[in-house]
Amino acid sequence: MPVTIVLGTQWGDEGKGKLTDLLAGEMDFVVRYQGGHNAGHTVVVDGESFALQLIPSGVLNESVTPVIGNGVVIDPGVLIAEIDQLASRGVDTSRLKVSGQAHLIMPYHIELDRVAERHLGKNSLGTTKRGIGPTYADKAARIGLRVQDLLDPKIFRQKLEVVLKEKNAILAKVYNRLPLSADQIADAYLNEYAPRIAPLISDTVALLNDAVVAEKRILLEGAQATFLDLDHGTYPFVTSSNPTAGGAITGSGIGPRNISRVIGVAKAYLTRVGSGPFPTEVFDEVAEQLVDRGHEFGTNTGRRRRTGWFDAVLLRHAARINSLSEVFITKLDVLDPFDVVKVAVAYESDGQRYDSVPYHQSVFHKAVPIYEEFPGWKCDLSSVRKRSDLPKEALNYIEFLSQQIGVPVTIVGVGPSREQYVEI
Ligand code: IMP
Repeated sequence: MPVTIVLGTQWGDEGKGKLTDLLAGEMDFVVRYQGGHNAGHTVVVDGESFALQLIPSGVLNESVTPVIGNGVVIDPGVLIAEIDQLASRGVDTSRLKVSGQAHLIMPYHIELDRVAERHLGKNSLGTTKRGIGPTYADKAARIGLRVQDLLDPKIFRQKLEVVLKEKNAILAKVYNRLPLSADQIADAYLNEYAPRIAPLISDTVALLNDAVVAEKRILLEGAQATFLDLDHGTYPFVTSSNPTAGGAITGSGIGPRNISRVIGVAKAYLTRVGSGPFPTEVFDEVAEQLVDRGHEFGTNTGRRRRTGWFDAVLLRHAARINSLSEVFITKLDVLDPFDVVKVAVAYESDGQRYDSVPYHQSVFHKAVPIYEEFPGWKCDLSSVRKRSDLPKEALNYIEFLSQQIGVPVTIVGVGPSREQYVEI
């Protein structure tokens, strides 16, 4: 069974792009299954950095067919810009396939995401303001426009006019904004975007299932992460899709019995962008060092990420929900100069100890981590390539994480480049 899922186990930005790129060499297909251009994957190849938002990281590998699956939401202008940007740097994007069932992000989704966040004031979610939530909301409400609608101008126009009437009423009456023009939207989507997107549209569910039968190797690439999952994350501070393993099934159309490996990616410490609880968050010079050494600014929005110590309680939960078969730890080298590194092994809330993520949100919001501390390795790991060359303190740390999570750690990242990793 040749299907592998790679997904984030924390709050995103774990370095999934690098891992996907690493595995892409052994894959025939790399598939995005949820989210949109709220994601930002950075891959460094031969010293050149590529920031991808929508196109699967596998595009950088010439033997891979990159697929944008049915579970993704697509801003066609952004997709075209990304294709053009890659092409201008010599990357061949002609193999890209886009599901006709994927939903389109429309200008009113972006506008509504922005104004709704502003309206929420101090209760805002800190979204990426890319229109992700409103697009998935319309999908669930069955009023969304899909990529395949670009192929039928009459249907596109009809659907647009019905939905825009409602959106304009909300924009004007609730948010005091100017209405959007159906003509302008239809012109951009049908005349500018459709001719570029049409050749890429494909029945990706059939394509991928045929590939499964032909024993092709498929990688399902998650965006965002387990604790941003609409069902399993720290609701309401989550994204509007399912980055967890279940979402990979729904968002690609590949059945669960075909999945052979589920690889969870976790940073050696922890980061989060946007609002929401974060028990192991740090604010002192440790935060400065993590931000500085880890370049913890969003690939996508440029926002400074919140930082903290590794939280094994979250990882145990992620291992359960996703039935992880292994874990890849990234950015271990960021911890190189620390005298002490910490891992949260449980929480305390209202005088009670919790060894797993508290079920009740208000308990979780007050959770104080119970840490185990480890001596740092205090040396440069960036050039280490073999397990036997890792200092014993670093190996102890990794082995402790593995034991805590209950799933083997099989690879550790020690720098941003493709070759900077160690097999454990
Ligand atoms: P949305 O996905 O734009 O609706 O944002 C919802 C929440 O998910 C916010 O807290 C975002 O900061 C977070 N988020 C969305 N995409 C990413 C990502 O790729 N990495 C990290 N956080 C993300």
